[in-house]
Amino acid sequence: MNGELTAHSVADFPPRTTWIEVSRSALAHNLYLLRSRLAPTTQLMAVVKANAYGHGAAETARTLQQAGADHFAVATLSEAIELRQAGIARPILVLGYTPPWHAASALAHAVTLTVFELETATALHAAAKAMGQRLTVHVKVNTGMNRLGVRPEAAPALLTALATLDGLTVEGVFTHFATSDETDKQHAEAQFTRFQALLETLRQAGLRPPLAHAANSAALLTMPHTHLDLVRSGIALYGLDPDMTQCTLPAGFRPALTWKAIVTQVSDLAPGEAVSYGREFIADRPMRTATLPIGYADGFPRRPQTWGSVLIHGQLAPILGRVCMDQTVVDVTAIEAATGPVQQGDEVVIIGRQGDATLSAETASARVGTNNYDIVSRILARVPRIYVA
Ligand SMILES: Cc1ncc(COP(=O)(O)O)c(C=O)c1O
Repeated sequence: MNGELTAHSVADFPPRTTWIEVSRSALAHNLYLLRSRLAPTTQLMAVVKANAYGHGAAETARTLQQAGADHFAVATLSEAIELRQAGIARPILVLGYTPPWHAASALAHAVTLTVFELETATALHAAAKAMGQRLTVHVKVNTGMNRLGVRPEAAPALLTALATLDGLTVEGVFTHFATSDETDKQHAEAQFTRFQALLETLRQAGLRPPLAHAANSAALLTMPHTHLDLVRSGIALYGLDPDMTQCTLPAGFRPALTWKAIVTQVSDLAPGEAVSYGREFIADRPMRTATLPIGYADGFPRRPQTWGSVLIHGQLAPILGRVCMDQTVVDVTAIEAATGPVQQGDEVVIIGRQGDATLSAETASARVGTNNYDIVSRILARVPRIYVA
């Protein structure tokens, strides 16, 4: 037994009985496909916020940097610092609000910040001056998402004021589409028209920053006239659809993430016996069940809707009873009848392919009642990420 174990290196074994495999070649390939849609002068910003949509920020960003991503985008300064510590040398933009008290840290790590009002910008400028440095910023413009940003009509005055603050370098101006993933592009086009009008006003005033950007993955794919100087792509890099019905990826993109586990126990269930907390599922016939080492504290939802089923032996194994914090029980009665005994250690696929069967993040998201962005970014950090070719 010991001899057998030492015949393998520890690295041959996943550190937990559930893990995520991320394909580096899929990430690089998807980046290549996106890049091939861009003019040579348009730069690509890889959006790796939220732990790279669950794919693992450090390793995903390293792979994308090697594959030629020009910039990175994250949601928070702490995410940006994690990338710097992982050896990411390219520019990193924080898309969200950064308070002035983070200015020193942003400067120390050469991180680019988003600004959209003068008060914070002035405080950032003062902090940069105190350190004898210049902080690079992009101005966020709200053209119709109504989440974050300066209104287009107020933007020229803001950029005029920013030009007087020599602690800041205004490198970019950007906006974000609310509906570029929908078939009806009317609102997205209206947003873009507003943004272009602003860019023209800024140009005439000599205030247009070098990098104007608007397009996310959906706009990159379906609104090529919005590419401008730079595109910000997240979901498509991971090989996932911007929208499951209205904006699916063209052929060729490959999902980079597979979520796996192994069966931890196989049991018999007699008629009348119940499974899991609250005894919500009661067997009405003799059944075989498999226990899985995944639960809601891994990002495998409990309520209001569950994943429904997972793949074992290339077949769907339905969830029985309540999903627990760390464990879930599935029905393998039909699978055993079709493919033979299910055993401890058998592979379970929660997202991905198994044999001829696929359980995509999109399918899981439809069952859970959310979107694929939510499904992958909610997989918690305690599920180890393993990087494969
Ligand atoms: C401001 C901003 N830009 C770009 C993106 C990337 O969008 P997507 O993943 O749809 O490409 C996001 C993600 O939500 C975002 O918030």
